[in-house]
Amino acid sequence: MAHTIAGVVYKNLIKPVLFRCDPETVHDKTTKIGERLENQEWLLNRLFAYQNTILRKTVLGLEFENPVGLAAGFDYNGHLAKVMKHVGFGFNTIGTVTAQKYEGNKPPRLARLPKSKSLLVNKGFKSDGAEIIARRLDGKKLSRHMIGISVGGSNVPEVNTTSKAIDDYLKTFNLFKDRQYVKYFELNISCPNIAMTESFSTLKNFQELVRAIGSLGITQPIFVKMPSEIALEESDALVRVALGHGIRGFIFSNLIKNRNNSALEKEEVAELRDIPGNFSGAPTAENSKRMVKHTRDTFGADVAIISCGGIFSATDAMERFSLGADLIQFITGMIYEGPQLAGEINRGIARFLATRSHRSPG
Ligand SMILES: Cc1cc2nc3c(=O)[nH]c(=O)nc-3n(C[C@H](O)[C@H](O)[C@H](O)COP(=O)(O)O)c2cc1C
Repeated sequence: MAHTIAGVVYKNLIKPVLFRCDPETVHDKTTKIGERLENQEWLLNRLFAYQNTILRKTVLGLEFENPVGLAAGFDYNGHLAKVMKHVGFGFNTIGTVTAQKYEGNKPPRLARLPKSKSLLVNKGFKSDGAEIIARRLDGKKLSRHMIGISVGGSNVPEVNTTSKAIDDYLKTFNLFKDRQYVKYFELNISCPNIAMTESFSTLKNFQELVRAIGSLGITQPIFVKMPSEIALEESDALVRVALGHGIRGFIFSNLIKNRNNSALEKEEVAELRDIPGNFSGAPTAENSKRMVKHTRDTFGADVAIISCGGIFSATDAMERFSLGADLIQFITGMIYEGPQLAGEINRGIARFLATRSHRSPG
């Protein structure tokens, strides 16, 4: 069990060192190392991944090797597009990609809250911009990879009206829609610190946006990345609009804003009072679970659901499937548990599925 050993090494030797360094510097360095290793498939598969045909799953016509994905925000410029499959992920989302380049919010853009098993995120859609990212991805051989592009509105002062923001989203969709390696899209309407993008989680703006996207003739499935802190009725209304325009995929959900969330340790949050931003990890779990269950109960087989938020183990993953998720995604779990987490979760799911089919054949 190479990835169990990888997990022990990560938690006891590597993480204590990394957690003493600035989180964004660690992320940048890890990304560089990861990209350099992209052709070391054999080694990475041995160290991290777990493969088993029992894990295959078809969702919205796409055949996933396993149901465990990398969420948007880890590989925002596409450097890791080739490597994440060999780290064990069945699909990986690149982005959020924006049409225009943006340097990111004023640092610090990232902080750790270890007691809360959370990260404070203040990136503000730092992005190389869609064209540079597309060219980077064109240079990697990705035909066997399950790559998705998360699309958001450029976080620049010129994009300051709804119609400009819609045009801006469309530019990125247009740039990627005919690229064969793009197997799905995420439509990000829920980044809590980008006012223009978040404004598309209101019904009227969302309607305009999906109508415009509908005119592009996109053939790949689209998953809407849903806000975390909205009422169930509001979420249902957005789902209905999306379904009316042929969009059937939903991701529950994005980061949370509420600094009084009961899963956040008060002292940790108080220490970060001067840093703006929103939280990932354990504090996002309850909303994700609630919305997955509610949406599955309400819309049944009409929707495909990805559960995202606070997944740290195979047990967490199995719970999300039992609530109605088709697939799962994470970032924070990998930061706290290690790069072997996708493999570990897949092993746990496979074990469960094998036991179940053994107990009830057919
Ligand atoms: C560092 C970081 C950056 C993120 N950036 C994005 C982003 O650009 N677009 C997006 O849709 N979600 C973004 N997210 C949110 C994640 O995709 C996910 O919804 C959230 O973190 C909950 O999952 P987790 O608890 O597994 O991290 C980001 C999260 C983190 C931790």
